[in-house]
Amino acid sequence: MIATASGARALWYLTRATGLVSILLLTASVALGITEATRWARPHIPRFVIAALHKNISLLVVAFLAVHIATAVADNFAPIGWLDVVVPFHSPYRPLWLGLGTVAFDLLLALIITSLLRARLGYRIWRAIHWISYACFPVALLHGLGTGSDTRVRWSLLLTIGCLALVLFTVWWRLWTARGTPVVRRTWGGLGAALVVWLILGWTFTGPDAPGWARRAGTPASLIAGASIQPTGSLNLRVPFNARLTGTVRNHSTAGNRVTVSISASLSGGALGAMRLTLEGAPLRDGGMRLGRGTATLGTTSQPFRYTGTVVGLDGTAIRARVHDATGHAITLAVSVNIDPSAGTLTGTVSARAATN
Ligand code: HEM
Repeated sequence: MIATASGARALWYLTRATGLVSILLLTASVALGITEATRWARPHIPRFVIAALHKNISLLVVAFLAVHIATAVADNFAPIGWLDVVVPFHSPYRPLWLGLGTVAFDLLLALIITSLLRARLGYRIWRAIHWISYACFPVALLHGLGTGSDTRVRWSLLLTIGCLALVLFTVWWRLWTARGTPVVRRTWGGLGAALVVWLILGWTFTGPDAPGWARRAGTPASLIAGASIQPTGSLNLRVPFNARLTGTVRNHSTAGNRVTVSISASLSGGALGAMRLTLEGAPLRDGGMRLGRGTATLGTTSQPFRYTGTVVGLDGTAIRARVHDATGHAITLAVSVNIDPSAGTLTGTVSARAATN
């Protein structure tokens, strides 16, 4: 099914929202797991309650991650495929930081599966594997900070710092109460955990929280558009304009002999911005397609859905679309593209005019 313009926006919001909920739940799961290991309990909070919460919250993380991952793949703004969900560092979109999400997800799956098979595996093997939960949390956190659109949003950054602080506190508490372990080992453990937190915070403020991160993180040039040139996020899309296009094209065959073409392109020259077109229709013998329906968005990386609308015409390599902003101000786009099918890239031009009706 083709995503509508508002559907595409909904997918992007869902990826972000479920990513944030997943990291909050993962934090709760790790903190409860550590609490369980300290054997802490109160008369009104017995240990079995903490164990049940730990187990159920861990399963809930997987449920939220399923939505997070499915929406990240379905939203075709960034080139993320199903292989990227299990094979790390494979996607051309922010490969390292997205790859860390894949690693965290793989680790989490290993933790959950071995916990469900705990009786069969035996306590020693299960416990040895469960140690990787200490790696899963910071790896997932680095993924969220390095990939997320909300890293520079203050409340989101504060939430992430809160997650780090809670896990650090519970690790220290675990070490403090581990009376059977030599003091030297506990001290080094506590210092090591503090060092990891300090390094993550230092990297956050000089990396994802600093200008230019989208480019340094490995965002494909076709998606960056004018955002880094215009750090305030303001658009340089003063209508009318004529601009050059460079970008990527993806073709998917869908059920019932339908084909969907997704175009992501950046605008330069007469305007700075990013444009996405999704066209769905029936394939033609000459390699073209008869348009059934299509959606169009125009904006920047920070505001990719500033204008949304529909594709209203397709004639060979000429595409016409009509988009409008939140105030209802409508513009028509006349797009002309040259596609290199083997490389999956395109160049072209776009002219924008105020819509007359
Ligand atoms: C344990 C596993 C994972 C956790 C806890 C997690 C969590 C997060 C968090 C917290 C964010 C930042 C959201 C924001 O800034 O609003 C994020 C962003 C993102 N994640 Fe994940 N993630 C995980 C795995 C994955 C995987 C396997 C994929 C896909 C292959 C993925 C795709 C994405 C994408 C595309 C974004 C950027 C969304 C945006 O534009 O903000 N994540 N993730």
